[in-house]
Amino acid sequence: MSITYNQENQVFSIQTANSSYQMKVSRHGHLLHLYYGKKISDEDVSWLIPNVVRSHESNPPEAQRDRVYSLCALPQEFSSNDAGDYRIPSLEVVNADGSYAFVGKYRSHKIYQGKYRLSLLPTLYAKEEENAETLEIILEDEITHVSVKLLYGVFYDRDVITRAVVLRNGADSPIYLKRIMSASLDFMEGNYDLIGFFGHHYFERQMDRRPLSHGISELGSFRGVSGHFHNPFAILCDRNAGEDSGSAYGFLLMYSGNFVFDAEVDGYSQTRVAMGIHPKQFDFFVDSGECFEAPEVVMAFSEQGFSKLSHCYHDIFRENACESRFVNEDRPIVINSWEPFRFDFDSEKLLKTAEISKKLGADMFVLDDGWFGARDDETAGLGDWVANEKKLPGGIEALAQKIHALGMQFGLWFEPEMVNEDSDLYRAHPDWCLRVPKRAPSRSRHQLCLDLSRPDVCEHLIEAVNSILDTGCVDYVKWDYNRYVCDVYSQYYAPEKQGEIYHRYILGLYRILDGIIKTHPDILFEGCSGGGGRFDGAMLTYFPQIWCSDNTDAPSRLTIQYGTSFAYPVISMGAHVSVCPNKKTGRSVPWKTRAVTAMHGTFGYELDPAKMSEEELAECAAYSDFYRRHRKLIRQGDYYRLSSPYDDSIFTAWQFVSKDKAESLVCVVTESISIMDKNSYVRLRGLEKEAFYEVAQTGKVHSGAALMNIGILLSDSQPQYSAFVYELKKV
Ligand code: DGJ
Repeated sequence: MSITYNQENQVFSIQTANSSYQMKVSRHGHLLHLYYGKKISDEDVSWLIPNVVRSHESNPPEAQRDRVYSLCALPQEFSSNDAGDYRIPSLEVVNADGSYAFVGKYRSHKIYQGKYRLSLLPTLYAKEEENAETLEIILEDEITHVSVKLLYGVFYDRDVITRAVVLRNGADSPIYLKRIMSASLDFMEGNYDLIGFFGHHYFERQMDRRPLSHGISELGSFRGVSGHFHNPFAILCDRNAGEDSGSAYGFLLMYSGNFVFDAEVDGYSQTRVAMGIHPKQFDFFVDSGECFEAPEVVMAFSEQGFSKLSHCYHDIFRENACESRFVNEDRPIVINSWEPFRFDFDSEKLLKTAEISKKLGADMFVLDDGWFGARDDETAGLGDWVANEKKLPGGIEALAQKIHALGMQFGLWFEPEMVNEDSDLYRAHPDWCLRVPKRAPSRSRHQLCLDLSRPDVCEHLIEAVNSILDTGCVDYVKWDYNRYVCDVYSQYYAPEKQGEIYHRYILGLYRILDGIIKTHPDILFEGCSGGGGRFDGAMLTYFPQIWCSDNTDAPSRLTIQYGTSFAYPVISMGAHVSVCPNKKTGRSVPWKTRAVTAMHGTFGYELDPAKMSEEELAECAAYSDFYRRHRKLIRQGDYYRLSSPYDDSIFTAWQFVSKDKAESLVCVVTESISIMDKNSYVRLRGLEKEAFYEVAQTGKVHSGAALMNIGILLSDSQPQYSAFVYELKKV
């Protein structure tokens, strides 16, 4: 049993293989958060709460003359509002009488085998054979009868606990929900660093570590999408935590829209963290008897630093997120038309490309943007999902047939959520996009956002995309999304419902993904959003892989992929080899460096093979073969960051180790030329100390201990941005 309830002292204990979590119902019925961290027993640890009067703090009426009992001093599991806890509230509702008060008190609980699911939002799931349990605790406000069901999903072996909340309006009248945090946690003491992953288009998920200090630190997005700017993943860790040591807590929101992660250090140096839907412009009407689901937070704890934390997330996202069969299959090596051709192509050019790309070892040809409607540039055609017969006589089916005849699979790009004003769809339904009455909408990339809060728009999109996919000629879909949301107003809903639109958009998006992706189990879907602008856990329940960034410059990719790897498995990252000088950065690096960097992901090409020499084609074909040989290890193995691209280090290196530790692949890109002036060793990790490994590239055999404590000597004199690989096999 990973979840227990001790009736006598009203303590809930959650155990995973290497962590413990504890809550207790206080003598007045408040649910206290006692502990999350290194393994302890199920004993009641409420003695950790000091018995002191905090002057000026409020005491709830039931405490009577007891000045010690204060909601602001006690660690809370789901904090109240307007009742004397001045820290970040978990919930803010406006009750029928106009008051904002909410105080949840314990009512009941349930413990059962298996993992809960939500009805409208994506969550992790547990396989039948897995050791997963659920705890549901109901807290209710005694006066208003607004209640919350706190959900805990426990994956014992994976050291992961998920949390979600379902609010129920048990009052006789409607309420307005202004804020609902999916998870919040109180730490009684500690000095923590907060790690977030920030960036922008072409520069996603850059690691940002800062010491928490008094006050509120916030990460979040208010762009209608999880976004390029901050990822819905945060780490709270010891000041000295590193890859192998120190305590680290991960918080990851399974949601693709506006989000917030707050960390508040109060005047007594207690820390509260809270994560959920961003409360800005969020105002949800919940009628009497109705419920509202708040998305899931995936929490993991590691007492052995970031590698262990990442392994928890990698394993759970590889095994318990996406139910597509492709999750457990080798991914095709694709060649994509976007970087070489943009909008300038016809069937002949595409077929020639597909033909030559066989020489590169590609398995699949992907036709990106520009194949539909009047789409000759960014200004027209979005929304019209019908092939442009001028470019593609006979349409998609005819092209797909010819590609298949070459022995290649065929993939196709869509951006279903958007519309150009210059499109048949917009001309027929100008009211189908988000726009504020009397105001002209803001364009971004010349496009507007369709109003996915409308059921009729969702049904239209499902039908339009499915009409092509149902022909059976498409093996892969790249699902793109190329702007942020604004002008958030839906003509479908009454004025008082407009605070619901951001969230309803996301619910509409999941409805569409269910209607398209889940009804096409034999198509591999890749997510994308102007590169990696919607790389989040919820998307990974639909897409086994997501295009990581539009920046295909290998050195730039080192930091992008490094940051992404803290939460997301390497096999979820779309990564391609492109031409040099790189179109974005103008930088030139060798083919090998581009290939090794793209092997930190799904590996593919984004170039015109007709412009490559026979030598270049042969060189790349060898990299494709190399990837093919190792793609199972890359997909399934444990991943280690061997050095940070931000450190003043000579190289950036990473390593894959098979679960049985019998084989390993080490990849290195030199970032400075000082490899010629200074001895450099790549210290490996995750091997068996006592075992011996043969390194194919050197022909030498070393013990795991030597490889991990001394490392592999980088001895060749190579210029900056050279790449090395080392294949290890246990002997
Ligand atoms: C943005 C994507 O990230 C690119 O790969 C490409 O598909 C373009 N959109 C097409 O418009």
